[in-house]
Amino acid sequence: MSAALEADRLFRFYHAGDDETLALQGVSLTVEGGEMVAITGPSGSGKSTLLACLAGLDEPDGGVVRIAGERISRRPEEERAAVRARRIGMLFQQVNLVGHLSVEANLAIARRLAGNRGSGDSEELLARCGIAQRAHARPSQLSGGELARAGLAVALANDPPVVLADEPTGELDEQTAAGILALLRERAAAGAAVVVVTHSPDVAASADREIRLQDGAESCGLRPWIPSEELAQGARSSKGDGAP
Ligand SMILES: Nc1ncnc2c1ncn2[C@@H]1O[C@H](COP(=O)(O)OP(=O)(O)OP(=O)(O)O)[C@@H](O)[C@H]1O
Ligand SMILES: [Mg+2]
Repeated sequence: MSAALEADRLFRFYHAGDDETLALQGVSLTVEGGEMVAITGPSGSGKSTLLACLAGLDEPDGGVVRIAGERISRRPEEERAAVRARRIGMLFQQVNLVGHLSVEANLAIARRLAGNRGSGDSEELLARCGIAQRAHARPSQLSGGELARAGLAVALANDPPVVLADEPTGELDEQTAAGILALLRERAAAGAAVVVVTHSPDVAASADREIRLQDGAESCGLRPWIPSEELAQGARSSKGDGAP
């Protein structure tokens, strides 16, 4: 059976005048249903570019993305959008909400676009995401953290088999962040392939795997996540231990 999400040697270049940015340089990634993978790496290392290519929002300059065996890259936008609506829940802050509609109307639309696939109750989902009390508000009337929570509710509305989230806990207080992380883990436990871009060591530690990007390429899969200062300290102290 095909993996839920598969990216094979993705390349993405940006040109501005004589400048060329190599945002992705041959990144490959396979995520099975039931797995939560964290993508980490310094600012500018290509994390958001990778996620946009995985979601079919951006076209890679080379390589292929497949969702449950179906190619989503190098296809007309309407076809990519159809695959997205059916199979992918995306949490890219602010982007997945329609501006002039309330939070609950956004949720209803996401469900309708996916052919009313979502199970469970919309009110319950909004409550689980901690945004039920703002269900009637439009995105422009929400705070940054509320927007993130509303975005999560919309991303999960149709029980997507693939969930892609860019910094889902970035602007949130600890308790809300923990709640969102728990919901993402729950989606993975229910069989979804979950990919989370994060700068947070806690989020990376709670994932099943971590993929670290550096200058658009995978640097190494550290497990468990160790901050670079600690790594350097560890290297220094182990040298000390071995000294005569
Ligand atoms: N539309 C664009 N045009 C030109 N360069 C771009 C564009 N989008 C991204 N880049 C460049 O590509 C590289 C990767 O950007 P990307 O947004 O993927 O980084 P990131 O890892 O998500 O960073 P952050 O942690 O800051 O969100 C950066 O050097 C960025 O400046
Ligand atoms: Mg980014």
